[in-house]
Amino acid sequence: MRGTFAGNEVGAGAAVRRERPVIAIDGPAGAGKSTLAAHLARHFGFLNLETGAMYRALALKAIDHDLDFEDEAALLELAGETRIVLKPQMEGNLVLLDGVDVSRRVRDGDVTAAASRVSVHPRLRQWMVEQQRALGADGGVVMEGRDIGTVVFPDAEVKIFLDAAPEVRGNRRYRQGGPAQVAVSEEAVIRELKERDARDRNRAESPLRPAEDAVILDSTAMGLDEVLAAAEEIVRTHLAERKG
Ligand code: DC
Repeated sequence: MRGTFAGNEVGAGAAVRRERPVIAIDGPAGAGKSTLAAHLARHFGFLNLETGAMYRALALKAIDHDLDFEDEAALLELAGETRIVLKPQMEGNLVLLDGVDVSRRVRDGDVTAAASRVSVHPRLRQWMVEQQRALGADGGVVMEGRDIGTVVFPDAEVKIFLDAAPEVRGNRRYRQGGPAQVAVSEEAVIRELKERDARDRNRAESPLRPAEDAVILDSTAMGLDEVLAAAEEIVRTHLAERKG
C-alpha cells in the first residue's frame, strides 16, 4: 500500500491523501530543477530527491562494466545487482552507488550522455519508477526529474514544469561550468543540451512533457530569485489550502 491515508480508505483509482505532500518538479536539462527542488525542500522542510542521479548512477556502472547502452536486458540485469542510494543534502543529493560516493563522477560528460541513452528503455524505467515511488510514498518530498508528475506520482499535489529556451539553459550551464568547462565552447554546451532534449522528449516511453495539471514556469526571462519566489508561492498557497 502506498502513502498514508489521512481519512477513510479511498477507492481504487482515487488519489491517496498523504500526511505531507509530494511536490513534483519536471522539466528539461539545465532548467534549474535541482536548484529549485533544493530550495523548496529547505524552505518547507521536505526532502529533495534528484531522480536523474539514479539514471546517472546506473549509467556509470554500465560504463564501468563496458555494457552496450542499447542492450536493455543487460542493463536490467545490472540494475538487479545494483544499489543506488540518494541522500538529500542542503544542496543536491549525495549519490551512493553500491556504497561508493559517486556524486561528482556522475556529473561528468560521459555519464551525462550515457544516462540520457540508458533512460530510454521501458523496463529499466519501470525499475527506477518503483524505487522512486517507494522513496516518496510517505510524502514530504520534492522529487525532481522528467516524469514525476506524469508517471511516478501522477497524484502529486503540486506539479511544476520548469522550462526555459535551450539557448538560455545552455548559457547558464556554460557559465556555471567552472574549470572543467574551459575547453568546451558555449555552442557545444547548447548543442549537447538540444540533443538530450530531443532524446528526452521523443522517446516512446514516458517522454518529457508537462502533466496536464502542472503549472508551467518558463524561466527564459526570469532571474533565479523570481523563479524560486514564484514556486515558493505555488507551494505555500497549496499548503494553506490543504490545511484549511
Ligand atoms: O536530470 P538529470 O540531467 O540528472 O537526468 C539525467 C538523465 O536521466 C536525463 O538525460 C534524463 C534522464 N531522466 C529521466 O529520463 N527521467 C527522470 N525522472 C530523471 C532523469
